[in-house]
Amino acid sequence: MVMTKIKTIGVLTSGGDAPGMNAAIRAVTRSAIYAGLRVFGIYRGFNGLINGDVKEFTTESVSGIIFAGGTILLSARSKEFLTPEGRAKAYKTIKDNGIDALIIIGGNGSLSGAQALSAEYDIPVIGLPCTIDNDLYGTDNTIGFDTALNTIVECVDKIHDTANSHNRIFFVEVMGRDAGFLAMNSAIAAGAEAAIIPESSTNIDQLAAYIDRGIRKSKRSSIVLVSEKDGGAMHYAERMYKEYPEFDVRVSILGYLQRGGRPSAMDRILASRMGVAAIEALKEGQRNIMIGVVNDQMVNVPIARAVKKDKPINEELINVLSVLSI
Ligand code: F6P
Repeated sequence: MVMTKIKTIGVLTSGGDAPGMNAAIRAVTRSAIYAGLRVFGIYRGFNGLINGDVKEFTTESVSGIIFAGGTILLSARSKEFLTPEGRAKAYKTIKDNGIDALIIIGGNGSLSGAQALSAEYDIPVIGLPCTIDNDLYGTDNTIGFDTALNTIVECVDKIHDTANSHNRIFFVEVMGRDAGFLAMNSAIAAGAEAAIIPESSTNIDQLAAYIDRGIRKSKRSSIVLVSEKDGGAMHYAERMYKEYPEFDVRVSILGYLQRGGRPSAMDRILASRMGVAAIEALKEGQRNIMIGVVNDQMVNVPIARAVKKDKPINEELINVLSVLSI
């Protein structure tokens, strides 16, 4: 389908909310209207498509939202949309409202869902990578990652005070689902001793020896950032406590603190650029692609490639953390 046939788009946010989602909704809406398109906001993710929960948007619909966390369109992880019946209902809403293309703002699961719909019903879909996990291949950063990272670092800075005051070892668990981007990057930024991430194996004895060496030298405490996968911080803290009872171990699970809050300037800019690029891509006749930014250049990545869950952790970061935490 080429742009001449696309007159109306639908936009939705799906999956876990992420800071910058609103900035992305604003950018998509305004750039679409700028290009002469009608825009429908679809509420509660794919559930809104299934239930016909849609509303036409104007430029004013997205005023005063660029600085807000969460999503004005609301979000959901729709179980019904995973079924062919659910997707059939979703397609009916698309047809009933004359929607010619969809912009999906979300993470891995959301973009995979969009792809399934597009394959079954021949509806053009453009994805914007929006998740704190940063686990989509084909973009250096996803919208929301930078803000979550900054939130984590702020929390770990505070934990440092207690760790130092009591000579404690802290295992701080962060989100990221199957990926260690939040754990690895926040470990470097917070000056932590180590990061336990799904992308590389962790030997508890080596970790203990390493922490012990640091404390013997001069360190008053140790902080280990732990990705939530594989039992997370509790799992590692319990093992450490059992095998090395001489350490005073504590756990802090940051949880949903990481997902909320005002988006950073970087996330607002990323969301704005990606929203404009999504409409540009539609104009060029692109479909089933995700917008990415690689080396500061806008790129289009096939959604099928983006969602393979194989975005690599930069090995250089692993080295930086280990060099600087001696
Ligand atoms: O994908 C974002 C994320 O916050 C993950 O880091 C986390 O594993 C998951 O969502 C939690 O999902 P829910 O909000 O459904 O509990």
